[in-house]
Amino acid sequence: MEGLNVTLGGLRLGTPLLSASGVYSLDYEQLASCAPYMSAAVTKSVTLHPRPGNPEPRIHETRAGMLNAIGLQNPGIAAFVAEEIPKLRALEVPLIASVAGSEVDEYVQCAEILNAREEIHAIELNVSCPNVEKGGIEFGCDPGVLEELVARAKKVVPGKTLIVKLTPNVTDIAATAQAAVNGGANALCIINTLRGMAIDIEKQKPALANKIGGLSGIGIHPVAVYAVYKCYTACCKKHNVGIIGLGGVTNAGEALELILAGATCVGIGTAMFREPNVFEDVAKEIQAYLKRKGIASVNELIGKAVG
Ligand SMILES: Cc1cc2nc3c(=O)[nH]c(=O)nc-3n(C[C@H](O)[C@H](O)[C@H](O)COP(=O)(O)O)c2cc1C
Repeated sequence: MEGLNVTLGGLRLGTPLLSASGVYSLDYEQLASCAPYMSAAVTKSVTLHPRPGNPEPRIHETRAGMLNAIGLQNPGIAAFVAEEIPKLRALEVPLIASVAGSEVDEYVQCAEILNAREEIHAIELNVSCPNVEKGGIEFGCDPGVLEELVARAKKVVPGKTLIVKLTPNVTDIAATAQAAVNGGANALCIINTLRGMAIDIEKQKPALANKIGGLSGIGIHPVAVYAVYKCYTACCKKHNVGIIGLGGVTNAGEALELILAGATCVGIGTAMFREPNVFEDVAKEIQAYLKRKGIASVNELIGKAVG
């Protein structure tokens, strides 16, 4: 679309808008209706073996977004490759496969399998999973472990864009961004959900069967803008590493905030539950904004607000 072409980690995209991992699950009809405004589809995170996910209830709506504890339900990499990739291919947009695991080897094996698939254009490492080898601390919370994970994955995906999705549940997100960049990430995806909890006061029990979940949607948007700004100014700009900013985007203004804070692309997730046309609306409104401001390309806006 005119004025909206961007390049992220070597991927040339027709708009800066991408789907957020997991939110569309495997609803291809809904995803298909988002193209051509959605420039790439990010899959639900896939693991080496099938995972049934957490018991229900695992979604809870809050006043400013939603809590989820899906628990990485997925069919495993073999079924993903055999059954899901062919359906996703029909979307005719670049595919970004999200990978998760409990051990470094699990990520590496999944990345290796996906590297062999020409239908997959990029691999996104979801590092918000507990590392069983290191006593359950999430990969994305320990810069040393994260750098090692990214470096090992990078070696097995020489021909593809490697994206690392960072968790906001850390004291210093710039330190984990730097670790991912040191490990060889071509782009970062910022942010995953914020840890949260809700209580059902009638039942006097947690609202989610898993007790805790991840908060997404409008309430986390300022956290996402801050995280993008921190990572962009701390290391991404210097190393020319693009950012997919996401968290609570519901309209063009919120997408533009992320771009002006340093994001090249913008992911949209939870908003899709309420507004099926959100991709079209946001893309057209960004074009209208560019016209109103006399700006030829959205690329001129990347990081403009933060120097
Ligand atoms: C129901 C649901 C499932 C999700 N599943 C995944 C997942 O499998 N992998 C992942 O990296 N992020 C997952 N996420 C996080 C989103 O990709 C995104 O980072 C987060 O929701 C913030 O964006 P949003 O506010 O636009 O939804 C999930 C979020 C939701 C709401």
